[in-house]
Amino acid sequence: MVVAIFKELEKTEKRVAVTPEGVAKLTSMGLKVIVESGAGVASSYMDESYVEAGAAIEKDKTSLLKQCDILLAVQTPEQSVMDQLKPGAVLIAFLWPIQNGELVEYLKKKEISSLAMDTIPRISRAQSMDALSSMANIAGYKAALLGSNKLDKYLPMMMTAAGTIPPAKVLVLGAGVAGLQAIATCKRLGAVVEAFDIRPVVKEQVESLGAKFVEVPIEEDKTESDGGYAKELSDRNKEKQREVIHQHVKKSDIVITTAQIPGRPAPLLITREMVEDMSPGSVIVDIAAEQGGNCEVTKPGEDILHNGVNVLGPLNIPSSLAFHASKLYSKNMLSLMDLLINEGKPQFNFDDEIILNATVTHNGDLISPFVKNNS
Ligand code: NAI
Repeated sequence: MVVAIFKELEKTEKRVAVTPEGVAKLTSMGLKVIVESGAGVASSYMDESYVEAGAAIEKDKTSLLKQCDILLAVQTPEQSVMDQLKPGAVLIAFLWPIQNGELVEYLKKKEISSLAMDTIPRISRAQSMDALSSMANIAGYKAALLGSNKLDKYLPMMMTAAGTIPPAKVLVLGAGVAGLQAIATCKRLGAVVEAFDIRPVVKEQVESLGAKFVEVPIEEDKTESDGGYAKELSDRNKEKQREVIHQHVKKSDIVITTAQIPGRPAPLLITREMVEDMSPGSVIVDIAAEQGGNCEVTKPGEDILHNGVNVLGPLNIPSSLAFHASKLYSKNMLSLMDLLINEGKPQFNFDDEIILNATVTHNGDLISPFVKNNS
C-alpha cells in the first residue's frame, strides 16, 4: 500500500505530516512511502533526508494522489486534493468533523475512510497519539513568548545600578495543556504568575509550577465532564467568575487566555470593560481566538491596540514552530498508524475505542460516536 505525504498549502501551513524519522517507521510496517517534492522544506526537512529514510520523491501532485492509498496530512486537504483521492482511500489529518458537517457528508459520499487527529480520545493509552495536546503545548509556550515580546517591560525582576525593576505579573486563564505550558514558560522567564481554571483539580498542577491559583467560589458541584474536559458554567456562576477575574486582569501586565470547552465556542472571560481597565502597554494573548476568543475585543488572526492595550489573536501557532511541531505531530501520527496498520494494511477494528472515535467515515458511514454525540 502506498502512503502519500503531500505539501500543505504553504501560505497557511508550514508543518509536514510525517518527518523522515517517521518515514522509516512506515516502511518498517510494510508500506511504500511517496513524498511530494518540497513537502518538508517549510519545516526544514529536506527531500534528501526523506530519500535516505526510504521514501520516493514525486514532483507531480496529481500523480502522487493517483498512486495514494493512504494520505497523511496536517490540515484538512484542499478540495482539489480530496477530489483526486480514489474511493476507499484512507485520509488522516485534523478534520474538525464536529464543526464541519459538510466535509463529513462529502467523505461519506466519496467513500473515503477518514480518521481525525482531533477526535482521538484523551485517554492514557492514546497519549502518544494526542496531537491536540502536542500542539496545545507548543501554543502555550509560544503564547508566553508572544506576550513577553509585545510587552514593553522586563519579565524578571532586575536589580541594576539604576534601580530595581519589579517582575511582570502574568495571569493565565484556563490551565489545561496550553495554559500549564504558558505558566511554566512565563515562570522560566521570571514573571510572577497566577492562573485560574474552573476545574479545581488543576489547582495542584498550577501550584506545582510555582504559580498562584486564583480561587473563585463556584457553586456548580461538577465542572468537569467524564472525559476530563470542562463543562459550561451556569449564568450565575459565569457572573461570579467575571467579577473575580476582573480584579486580577486589571493588575496584570500580560494575560494569556486558553479556556475551551470542546465542541463549543470559546467561553467569554474578558469583557471590553475589563480590557479598558488594564494599564496602557499591557498585553492579552488570546490563543482561543480560533474558537472566537476568550476576550470580547479579540479579532482572530489580528494584533490590535484597544485603548492602549495590545490584544493578540494568533491563529495556527504550531505552524510558527514548524520543525518541532512536525516532529511531534509525526510521532502522534505514527502511533496511530501503528494501531491501525496490521500486516501492511489498515484494519478498522471498531472494538478499539481509539480507532472507533478517531474514524469519522468508513464505507460511506459516519462512525465516530464522539462526532455523532457532539455534532
Ligand atoms: P484544554 O481542554 O486542555 O484546556 C482548556 C482549559 O480551559 C481546561 O482546563 C478547562 O477547564 C478550562 N476552562 C474551560 N472553561 C473555562 C472557564 N470558563 N474559565 C476558566 N477556565 C476554563 O485545551 P488545550 O488543549 O490547552 O487548548 C486550549 C486552547 O488553545 C483551545 O482553545 C485550543 O483551540 C487553543 N489552541 C490554539 C492554537 C492556536 O494556534 N491558536 C493551537 C493549539 C490550541
